[in-house]
Amino acid sequence: MRYWWWRLPVFLIVASVPFYWLYQAWAFALGPDPGKVLVDRLGQGALVLLLITLALTPLQRFTGWSGWVAVRRQLGLWTFAYASLHLGGYLFFILGLEIARLPEEIVERPYILVGSLAFVGLLALALTSNRWSMRRLGKRWKQLHRLVYPIVLLALLHMLWVVRSDAGRWALYAAIAAFLLALRIPALSGALGRWRSRRTISAKPGI
Ligand code: HEM
Repeated sequence: MRYWWWRLPVFLIVASVPFYWLYQAWAFALGPDPGKVLVDRLGQGALVLLLITLALTPLQRFTGWSGWVAVRRQLGLWTFAYASLHLGGYLFFILGLEIARLPEEIVERPYILVGSLAFVGLLALALTSNRWSMRRLGKRWKQLHRLVYPIVLLALLHMLWVVRSDAGRWALYAAIAAFLLALRIPALSGALGRWRSRRTISAKPGI
């Protein structure tokens, strides 16, 4: 497997973070409401992983190193795994598994609906992130995977709704997302590609 020496540590680090948080909860290091802190951390973890996944293609274009995109599928699936744990944590710790309370919860906290939409989008991407779906869907696969952009916006709106009074952290994520989305504008991504090829040519000996 190509880049196994890079893929394996990425896998181990991302897989071990939720265990570390669980350990902290067990060691009473997460304050008086560890369930809520776990839900928040998993939600934030999902958003960070989503942004890192979005950054990989520009990083590859910028540096020319294909190791970045070698971990793209893995990190996309980890985003979905963290979001699933975030949802599971919400149902278990906040809702106490009283699913019948969900309609009343949605009226009280409408941001849950926005998070759910982002989650359904992530589910669609996770289910079709295999070679079989790529072959079956052909051109439509790329179109479907452009869903990642509205998902980022929904996740940011969902977070803003939760953290309203502490918008500094949100503003940082929003600025990173805006930069990464801007890099997808054809004029900018083309300029990045041209900059990279100019750099490669000038780095060749004798040129
Ligand atoms: C069915 C889907 C989802 C549900 C039910 C849900 C529910 C929640 C709830 C209840 C909170 C607030 C917890 C609290 O502090 O009381 C929250 C916060 C948050 N969620 Fe979600 N969420 C969902 C999907 C997502 C997704 C897909 C993402 C990101 C990709 C996400 C990212 C976040 C973030 C960043 C926060 C703020 C965490 C913080 O305060 O640091 N959520 N979510």
